[in-house]
Amino acid sequence: MGEEVSALVGMKILVINGPNLNMLGKRNKSYYGDETLAQIETRISARAKELDIKVDFFQSNHEGAIVDYLQTRMKTVSGIIINPGALTHYGLSLRDALEDTQLPVIEVHLSDIDSREEFRQRSVISPIAIKQIKGMRGDGYILAIESLASHQRNGGEL
Ligand code: DQA
Repeated sequence: MGEEVSALVGMKILVINGPNLNMLGKRNKSYYGDETLAQIETRISARAKELDIKVDFFQSNHEGAIVDYLQTRMKTVSGIIINPGALTHYGLSLRDALEDTQLPVIEVHLSDIDSREEFRQRSVISPIAIKQIKGMRGDGYILAIESLASHQRNGGEL
């Protein structure tokens, strides 16, 4: 087995979505597109399979539930993709929990948060993330999984 492939064997990641992202497909489509979260997760699973990565999905409208989930799962995975929803802008306990995992975190936003209201332009998550992907709708999650895979493969470089 080549080095590149062996670095990916056994890789498992979490894909977490925060408040209101269970409503994708019904929410403002001009920002978020028309895919449902289930459809996006199906696409992520397909790409993950190609990359030989295992994925567990979690969505919650509650910050504490996401913190609990991270604390329970952090020792079992090697990376995290998260769209924190509005928690992006003020979720300090989520930020701390993500930081405490000491895992590579990629922050995803369907919309381009920097071209929207001022309060969306500040992320409390991005300082602890290795990368922020925004404005690519559902494709952003695919790019995120590819980035995490190459991060792993390159021993911590993006
Ligand atoms: C979002 C952007 C946030 O500002 C918003 O609160 C969301 C979704 C996005 O994916 O573009 O719920 O994270």
